[in-house]
Amino acid sequence: MRMQLMTWQEVENYLRTSTGIIIPIGSTEQHGPTGFIGTDALTAEMIAWEVSDITGGLVAPTISIGMAQHHLAFAGSMTLRPSTLIAVIQDIINSLARHGFDRFYFINGHGGNVHTVNAAFSELYAETSLKTASTDRPPIRCVMRNWYMGRAVREVSNEIFGDDEGSHATASEIALTYFKYPEDSARIAQFNLDPPRAPEGNIYDAEDYRSQFPDGRIGSNPSRANAEIGARLMKCAVTEMADDYRDFVDKA
Ligand code: NI
Repeated sequence: MRMQLMTWQEVENYLRTSTGIIIPIGSTEQHGPTGFIGTDALTAEMIAWEVSDITGGLVAPTISIGMAQHHLAFAGSMTLRPSTLIAVIQDIINSLARHGFDRFYFINGHGGNVHTVNAAFSELYAETSLKTASTDRPPIRCVMRNWYMGRAVREVSNEIFGDDEGSHATASEIALTYFKYPEDSARIAQFNLDPPRAPEGNIYDAEDYRSQFPDGRIGSNPSRANAEIGARLMKCAVTEMADDYRDFVDKA
């Protein structure tokens, strides 16, 4: 169930049976010549929607813009500063908590979000601990799961891609989007990547990133990606996260 496709009465009814909610979070940033700018948001939400089908958990609107300052030298990339993203997450959770949601399960598709999302969780817990949260806010719990770090996902990725997985515009994330969006992927997938596997290295600011990684990829060879592998990885991610979501919302 996607909250955007429900009425307020349906959400109110849902809250009588569950106070858990799944929040996909991604990014809007370049993913090299063969990957969509929306990759990180598209992967997070496609997994969230299927986890919802299995568990009955409600899915919030996707947070599609993340912390991606290092990608800004490539056209189309957008970022929220860490301080902005923290504020966005605080406001989203406080809005939902006002209605009675108290278990927030973030499915994340972007490594650059990790520190900032965890900082946002700490800000929210600090509101409780310092007694500055609204007095009627229920005690909240927040977790973030990076789908690409799941055990089963890693196993399949290691087996199929090995070192070609890389760390940005990875073979796995691009495979997932090729599975979900075959028509658009047919347009971009044939681009000849040179070199096939991109260089590895550390990330600093946007200009430095572009000079070190001129086509936008880091360490990956996404020419190995295809829809069939994407379907397999998707199944791994969804199965793991469905179990994990149930545990999270059921735990007292
Ligand atoms: Ni990505």
